[in-house]
Amino acid sequence: MKTNKMPVPPEKQSWPLPKNDYWSTPFAEALMHHLDLFPGASVLDVASGHGTPAFHIAEQVGPKGQVLGIDLHPAQILRCRSNQRTHLPWLSFEQADVRTLPANLGPFDRITGNIAFMFFRPDRFSALKQLVEFLKPGGQIVLTFPSLGTFDSLWQRIDREMASRGLTREREKLVEYLEERPSAEHARQWYQDLGMERVEVNEWPLEIPTGPGEEFLFHPLLRGGFLEDAYECFEDQALAHAVMNTIADDIKSFTPLTALRCAMAAWRPAE
Ligand SMILES: C[S@@+](CC[C@H](N)C(=O)[O-])C[C@H]1O[C@@H](n2cnc3c(N)ncnc32)[C@H](O)[C@@H]1O
Repeated sequence: MKTNKMPVPPEKQSWPLPKNDYWSTPFAEALMHHLDLFPGASVLDVASGHGTPAFHIAEQVGPKGQVLGIDLHPAQILRCRSNQRTHLPWLSFEQADVRTLPANLGPFDRITGNIAFMFFRPDRFSALKQLVEFLKPGGQIVLTFPSLGTFDSLWQRIDREMASRGLTREREKLVEYLEERPSAEHARQWYQDLGMERVEVNEWPLEIPTGPGEEFLFHPLLRGGFLEDAYECFEDQALAHAVMNTIADDIKSFTPLTALRCAMAAWRPAE
């Protein structure tokens, strides 16, 4: 996928998307593919984490622009400020919850959020509705998230293992977890329900390599973001470990592991 509409071309960028990040960067590429940036734009980047893509966007909008990154966790804000030092002074980071942003923020020309939309729970539609209020009329919002279908081969393998062991309650919890995940279809429908224009929702597959055993069980991405959810389906954690160890020794049955990068873009109608 190539990025487009970039005021600062790749060869002149001091703040490209991180090259060695095999998770955030591919999602951010999907986001940038949709984002229509211009010098001087004001941008709100929600769930900014360690600053992908806030730093990159700040370079693109230049000193006449303004970029605010917000994240729930103060440690992320401190890390970004410390990496920023005195660079890009039109970029700032503040601690805030995307679901309850202060009313005096913005409005912004653009709103972005990379690997962000799943955190809009429990009522993602209401959270999206509130967030869109911070857009200027005619402004654009682009969010990304791993959509429904992400790592399905793994969830199916876990479900089969639970079924073969007669773990009915654990299976129900797994189904509950899987059904709660947002889909590309949700994204499209919600934007339409909000009266947004030029709605574009796209998904791109992303393969995540893993080896067997501990390489799988302690995979930095899978463990924190996904496997913990599988463990939470069990009340008995010893049983959870037994099931997950069996799965970890059988990776051939569910690899390649494929995530779906979903980018959801839309424009607020001009008044
Ligand atoms: C998967 S990381 C993505 C970070 C960054 N955008 C990136 O692409 O690397 C998600 C971030 O969302 C933040 N987050 C989770 N829930 C949030 C909320 N309700 N409001 C704001 N940030 C939130 C987390 O602290 C974390 O830094």
